[in-house]
Amino acid sequence: MDGSDASTEFAQHSLEDTYDGPPDQRTGARHGIYPDLSHDEVERFNFLAQMNRHLATRVAPMVETAWNARIEPRFEAEHGRKPMDRTEARRALLTDPVFQTWSALRRMTMEQRQEAGRWAAVRQSEALAAKAASLSAPDRLTLDPTVAVPRYVAAVDHHCMPGSYHTELFPGDVSGPASYDSGIHVTVGGRGGPYNDGIGRTMAEWIQETYPHFKPSRILDLGTTTGHNLLPMARAFPEAKVIGIDIGVPVLRYGAARVESLGVGNVRFLQADATNLSQFEDGSFDLVMTTMFLHELSLTSMDAIFREAKRVLAPGGLMLNMEQPAYAGMPPFEQAIRDWDAHYNNEPFWTTLHSLDLDDHFVAAGFERDKLVKKVFTVPAGPAGQTKIGMVFVGAEK
Ligand SMILES: C[S@@+](CC[C@H](N)C(=O)[O-])C[C@H]1O[C@@H](n2cnc3c(N)ncnc32)[C@H](O)[C@@H]1O
Repeated sequence: MDGSDASTEFAQHSLEDTYDGPPDQRTGARHGIYPDLSHDEVERFNFLAQMNRHLATRVAPMVETAWNARIEPRFEAEHGRKPMDRTEARRALLTDPVFQTWSALRRMTMEQRQEAGRWAAVRQSEALAAKAASLSAPDRLTLDPTVAVPRYVAAVDHHCMPGSYHTELFPGDVSGPASYDSGIHVTVGGRGGPYNDGIGRTMAEWIQETYPHFKPSRILDLGTTTGHNLLPMARAFPEAKVIGIDIGVPVLRYGAARVESLGVGNVRFLQADATNLSQFEDGSFDLVMTTMFLHELSLTSMDAIFREAKRVLAPGGLMLNMEQPAYAGMPPFEQAIRDWDAHYNNEPFWTTLHSLDLDDHFVAAGFERDKLVKKVFTVPAGPAGQTKIGMVFVGAEK
């Protein structure tokens, strides 16, 4: 091929036509409490997001190819049968260099995302704390020092995040959530949208389409973290009084400052444990929601939270939760890949949650079986590399 052919070919496949990577980190929406990022910090995030997308779309399919071509056949030759569950599938995968490479690089992107976020946030932690203080507004945030961090949370650095969501390095600190907010772009490959609120937007749209006459006037989000996915709900129902609760102080403080700077007036944040909502009377809310919350709960806590949700929900109300789908019915290979987070990403309750039939737990909490709600969304390639990572809304009407 001579030079002119090469340039024609380049013109035919311009970057605009072929680029399928994550958006530049700079396209993420900034707000009053967002950390300042230097050129190098942004590019570190961009590299890691690109790496994650590459792992999900190019390397993960090779793991499946290796499974079909040699890993499962080898297992079958040794055992005279196929792997019968995800444990056998995972053990077989562990022996293969393609799985080892994908898994090690995936873990590396998570560790480096956490490091990159912390470098940026900790160097400006005092300035961020001052910004949070200046953005505080009366009644926006209520802290309760009697709320303890339960052991099932305190014992875990969730997804390699040092100190998880609740650790406060000094009074007024918001460096943990600043790191989380700027680094989440890496983990989801930019798929959450500029405000990292794709789940909340999808949930709000789905409620409006599915229940056109449902106009909740009191909304409660359990395990809200910084309220990323609560804000779309508050915007969809601007007349509603909206409360996000969490046990973590820095995430709530950051969330309150973020909401203040974004000018969303109908949201408040409270420090509270969702297993004990005794400060709210029976029937206090029309909508109780959670997003990516259940997989970080112990089973006992989850059941207690469902009971409290049922109690504080008003008749005609809705409890809606978003998680990834349950494993039941999936082939062992897919289960083993989806279960990666439990083994290599500090998510100790992941396996239990996805092995459950949540319907039974809603019914045990007092919801009626014929009022259970389920909606499955699939997306082509998730950040984890699964071809059908999917989102499931599960819950119940009261
Ligand atoms: C994975 S994050 C949830 C993400 C968030 N809902 C979102 O969509 O961005 C889990 C959160 O649950 C909080 N949490 C865990 N147990 C809790 C409990 N019993 N009550 C309230 N919050 C809790 C943690 O502090 C953490 O912020």
